[in-house]
This record gives sequence, structure tokens and C-alpha cells, in this order.
Amino acid sequence: MNDVSELLLARQSEPRLAEPGPDAGTLQRLIRCALTAPDHALLRPSRFLVIEGEQRVQLGCTWREIVARENPDMSAEQLERASRLPLRAPMLIAGISAHRDHPKVPAIEQSLSTGVALGYLLLALQAEGFGGMWRTGDMAYHPEMHRALGLAENEQVLGFLYVGTPQSRKESAPRPDPELHFSYWSGEPN
Ligand SMILES: Cc1cc2nc3c(=O)[nH]c(=O)nc-3n(C[C@H](O)[C@H](O)[C@H](O)COP(=O)(O)O)c2cc1C
Repeated sequence: MNDVSELLLARQSEPRLAEPGPDAGTLQRLIRCALTAPDHALLRPSRFLVIEGEQRVQLGCTWREIVARENPDMSAEQLERASRLPLRAPMLIAGISAHRDHPKVPAIEQSLSTGVALGYLLLALQAEGFGGMWRTGDMAYHPEMHRALGLAENEQVLGFLYVGTPQSRKESAPRPDPELHFSYWSGEPN
């Protein structure tokens, strides 16, 4: 088996992450890998926003304020939990997709390109000995979070990669049986 197949088959998300995350030089290389994602008409829809250190605390406070305003009955404990969400890893990387009007490239294809880039980024992280987990939830989709993160009108967050060094490997999830997800078309609709 070749190295890439082995890397893919060993791939898994890692939720328990601690320091260190990748340094600036490593991150440059990882992002370069991510940006090899297929990209119809080379529209370059993807960008990555790195949130680390104190900025994670700031992001958590912003999220807490939004949650508190929208849920006046929420307990202090629940709000505290909301504010700590970004602290689950030393680094968060927001995967952002910008949509442009194009006669041949609908918005979904531009999002898909960024989604593939995020997948490549996870793999590249793993290849360098780091771990990552793709998370979304309301924090990724709320328009006020988009404003706080400086997104333009045509941009959306496709997810946050939580990034760091795995503390303990999680139990691997059972993988689907390829036989159930794969067939050859006979030339007829079944
Ligand atoms: C677009 C997207 C959003 C996701 N959001 C979350 C999330 O918010 N919380 C979560 O626990 N897992 C989320 N996941 C799933 C995990 O990233 C992970 O894939 C899953 O736990 C299976 O683990 P594995 O990658 O090791 O197979 C998301 C996955 C994708 C593709």
C-alpha cells in the first residue's frame, strides 16, 4: 500500500487536543497543501482564518454575548460552557468560502472546493503529527459571528478546524463497508 492510502485509512478526527499547534512555517506548508483542492474555473473561493491564544478567549466571549442575548433564560453555567467552546484546542482554523457569480460555477461548487480544502488540511495536519477536528454548530453559521470574524457579504464559514497535538487517540469510528457504497452502473436505471 502507498503512503497516501495508508494516511487516508489511518485518518481520524481528534477531539482531545493540546499545545503545540503548528508554527507559522508549518502552517504555511499545510495551507499550501489545502489550496491544491480542485477548483472549477480557478475562482479561488477559499481562505483560512487562524484563531489562537487570547483570540480564542475573545471569540468565546463574543459567542457568549450572542447566546446570552438570544437566550435570556440560559443559566450562568450554560453560558460559561458556550464561552469555552473555542478553548477545546490551541488553534482554530475557520474555513471560509467566498462566492462569486460565474456563468458555469454555481455557489455549491465553490463551497465544495473549500470543503475539499478543509479535508486536505486535516490530512496534511495528521501527516505532520498534529490532530484536528472539523466542527460547525451555531457558532459557525451565526451572522453576528460572521461580522465579528470580518466576513464579507459573499462569504460563509464552512467550519472550524480545531487543531493541536492529540492528547489521547480517540477510539476509531467503524468505517463503512465499501460494498455498500460502491457499484458499477449497468447502463440501465437499476
Ligand atoms: C461539515 C462538518 C461539520 C461537522 N460538525 C461537527 C460538530 O459540530 N461537532 C462534532 O462533534 N462533529 C462534527 N463533525 C464530525 C467530526 O468532524 C468527525 O468527522 C466525526 O466525529 C467522525 O469522526 P472521524 O472523522 O474520525 O471519522 C462535522 C463534520 C463535518 C464534515
